Amino acid sequence: MNYQYDYTVKDVSDAYDGAVGILWEVLMGEHIHIGGEKETQRLAEKLGVKDSYLLDICSALGGPARYLAKNFNTTVLGVDITKTMLEKATARTLEEGLQNKIEFRMGNALDLPVSSNTMDIVWGQDAWCYVTDKLRLIQEAVRVCKLGGKIGFTDWILGSTPLSKEEADFLYEFMIFPNLQTVNGYKELLEENNCEVLEVENLQEDFTSHLRFYYEKVQELKDTIIQEFGEELYQIAEKGVKAWKDAAEKGKVTRGLWIAKKL
Ligand SMILES: C[S@@+](CC[C@H](N)C(=O)[O-])C[C@H]1O[C@@H](n2cnc3c(N)ncnc32)[C@H](O)[C@@H]1O
Repeated sequence: MNYQYDYTVKDVSDAYDGAVGILWEVLMGEHIHIGGEKETQRLAEKLGVKDSYLLDICSALGGPARYLAKNFNTTVLGVDITKTMLEKATARTLEEGLQNKIEFRMGNALDLPVSSNTMDIVWGQDAWCYVTDKLRLIQEAVRVCKLGGKIGFTDWILGSTPLSKEEADFLYEFMIFPNLQTVNGYKELLEENNCEVLEVENLQEDFTSHLRFYYEKVQELKDTIIQEFGEELYQIAEKGVKAWKDAAEKGKVTRGLWIAKKL
C-alpha cells in the first residue's frame, strides 16, 4: 500500500532548520545517511565519481560533498532547500579550503536550479524520501544529467511486508515523509524516463542493523539529548527510532540503492 501524506517541503525545511537537523547529526554524523562515510565510499565506487562533475540532490551539511572532493577529486554542486543546512555546509567547506571544488545552491529537488544535460553524475543519499513527487524528482535528475551520465542514489522505502495504515501514520509523521517508493517503483520510474537501470539493491539487513544501532545510540545519548533539546523531544526520538527499527525487523520498511545510466 502506497500511503500519501500532505507534508510539504516547508514542513521538512522548518524541521531541518531546527532541532531535527542537529539531532540527526548527533546520531549519524555529518553524512546524514545510513552507514556514514563507508556508504558514501561504496556509492562513489559504484558510480565511478573520480574527476567528475556531480550533483548532490538534498546535500544537507555537505559531508558527502567534501568526502568526494577530497578522496575522488570530484567537483560537486549541492542543492538543498534548508537555509541552516546550506549555511553550515558552506562554512564547513570554507574551513576545509574546498570552496573551489564545491558549490551549494538553495533549491527544490522538484525544480532544480541546474541547467539541463550538465552533470556527469546525479547523486542522492537517504533524502529523496522527503520529496513529495517522486516522478518529477526522477525527471529532474534525468534532465540535468548528461547523455551517458549516471544517476545513483540510496533511499528509505517500503519493504515487502505491508504496513498498516496506523503504523504508516506514525512512521511517516515521525520522519515527515509525504510518501515512500519501493525497490521496483524507483526502477520503473528510471526506466520510464530514459534510463537503463544497471544495479538495484534491497539493503534490508544492513538497514535493520543500522536502525538497531541508532536505537541504542539514542538511549546512550539520553542525557545529552534531554539537556540540549528537552525531555519531550527525547521521548519522541526514542519512540520514533524504535518504531522504525521494529518495522525494519519485520521487513515493512527498508533502504535501497539504484544505479542507472541516462540513455
Ligand atoms: C537526511 S538529509 C540529507 C542527507 C544528505 N544526503 C547526506 O547524505 O548527508 C535530508 C535533506 O534533504 C533536504 N530536502 C528535503 N526535501 C527537499 C527538497 N524537496 N528539495 C531540496 N532539498 C530537500 C533537507 O533540507 C535536508 O537537508
